[in-house]
Amino acid sequence: MKRGYFISFEGVDGSGKSTQIELLKDLLESRGYEVVLTREPGGTEIGEKIRDIILDPSNSGMDHMTEALLYAASRAQHVRQVIAPAVESGKVVICDRFVDSSIAYQGYGRELGKCVEDINRYAVSGYMPDMTFLMKVNLNVGSDRIKGRRRDRIEMEDKDFYSRVYEGYEMIQRDFPDRIIGIDASGEIDVIGSTITDHVQRLMEGKR
Ligand code: TYD
Repeated sequence: MKRGYFISFEGVDGSGKSTQIELLKDLLESRGYEVVLTREPGGTEIGEKIRDIILDPSNSGMDHMTEALLYAASRAQHVRQVIAPAVESGKVVICDRFVDSSIAYQGYGRELGKCVEDINRYAVSGYMPDMTFLMKVNLNVGSDRIKGRRRDRIEMEDKDFYSRVYEGYEMIQRDFPDRIIGIDASGEIDVIGSTITDHVQRLMEGKR
């Protein structure tokens, strides 16, 4: 059985990830791939329960370390129950957020630092995406796009938090240039979509 692919999407809230994820899924399916679309936190029954706890605005007293460990706990279940089995059986897994979100949001945003990488090393046991798209928009564009939506506990954070997350993503992209592809997400949906498709095609042809 030929191994499949594991692709993740990252970016601040309102960066247009979901639209591009749907477009990529449709395209890959039209080319005959079996695609598993999943998300973090969540992606499993247990993970979705953890997600509810993390994002519930009434849990305002949650310690930052508790938050980081809960994201990692959800991820551990997700990798073992969904992602690894699907990739090993030849499917393409597209994941809305993965470890990089924890590094950016908890490591930089919450300023927990390097320990977030350590926690997550245990959570994923070396299972990392083959390719990660980092959807980059100007911070104000992102926050404008989520205006009017009901906000979860993380989205209620202030501008300083989001600037640190933004900077965190920049650092991660610099640290992992082979895996992470920065995408200018401020442009036309179709243009962004075809850039992403080109990269995925190259991955599948073994050119990357
Ligand atoms: P997401 O499902 O992308 O939010 P939405 O459905 O509202 O677009 O993610 C929920 C929030 O969790 C988001 O603000 C980012 C945050 N998050 C972290 O802080 N750390 C993590 O490891 C993950 C996966 C998400």
